[in-house]
Amino acid sequence: MNQQPRTIGIFYFSGTGNTKMIVELLATEFERYGSVVDVIAIDELMKTNKTAEVEKYDIIGFGYPVHAFNAPRIFFEFIELLRDGKQKKTFIFKSSGDPFMQGGSTALVRKALQKKGYDVIYERLFVMPANVLVRYQDRLIKQLCNTAVQRAKTMVKEILSEITKLQKNTFFSNFLTAAFSSIENYGARFFGKNLYVSDSCNLCGICISNCPTNNITKQKGHIIFHSKCTLCMRCIYRCPANAISPHFLKFFVISPWYEIQTIVDNPAIKDACISSKTKGFFRHFNRYFSEQ
Ligand SMILES: Cc1cc2nc3c(=O)[nH]c(=O)nc-3n(C[C@H](O)[C@H](O)[C@H](O)COP(=O)(O)O)c2cc1C
Repeated sequence: MNQQPRTIGIFYFSGTGNTKMIVELLATEFERYGSVVDVIAIDELMKTNKTAEVEKYDIIGFGYPVHAFNAPRIFFEFIELLRDGKQKKTFIFKSSGDPFMQGGSTALVRKALQKKGYDVIYERLFVMPANVLVRYQDRLIKQLCNTAVQRAKTMVKEILSEITKLQKNTFFSNFLTAAFSSIENYGARFFGKNLYVSDSCNLCGICISNCPTNNITKQKGHIIFHSKCTLCMRCIYRCPANAISPHFLKFFVISPWYEIQTIVDNPAIKDACISSKTKGFFRHFNRYFSEQ
């Protein structure tokens, strides 16, 4: 392994915290090998109109949550703003709620980065608790998070050893990604425009400052939602008064929301949830757990 200390910049988007957890695991691991790591939330950077100082780093990482088998729109908007990558070594990681089709194709993200001059050498999927549709049981949440710790260790070791590992993008995964993500793109704007607040809203403004796309404003004492939503779900889950709901796609929202770290730290949750004996829908997770 190349033990030379490296400077590493990790740029990420995380709607509800899962991708951020992976970023923290990776940063800790890189630091363990003597690297200096900066982690930068792209939405915070974009809100302040700052440019990513990519030239500072030897290795650059990009992380995102899978949305409809692709990256969220905000992530592509960020790539558009990037300066020339000057063929720097680049890794991509993504967090999804399900290992199906490796969370979709990485072709579009990889292509967008390569177009900007980034030499993508490594890609990896981390399956984390789904933040839409289905609330996973606590044992599965813990198993996913513990597995993420191991995968982050392997990933960092492989990157520092200059191992190239790119996800296989098949015709089917490329098709799935293209088809679903274009629907999601329009759906996100529609979803965001049709959010509303209930009477329990106390106008605290947390949703306004939390929103990565400045989609929420306060006008004449009312919370207004616009058409720039990237469907990250942060406003809904982080509202202290639990006052935000969608008019459409209500079934998307997991209720009640949960704090993953509390579940991970709970010593009473011991056994792994998925094994080779698992039957039913979650059976396909076992393959993910058996990979390194
Ligand atoms: C709009 C939307 C679409 C999603 N689409 C997928 C998907 O296609 N496949 C998948 O496995 N997970 C999907 N997920 C689940 C997230 O990728 C997953 O929970 C991720 O870990 C969330 O990361 P975050 O907390 O950093 O936002 C989706 C989540 C959202 C909000």
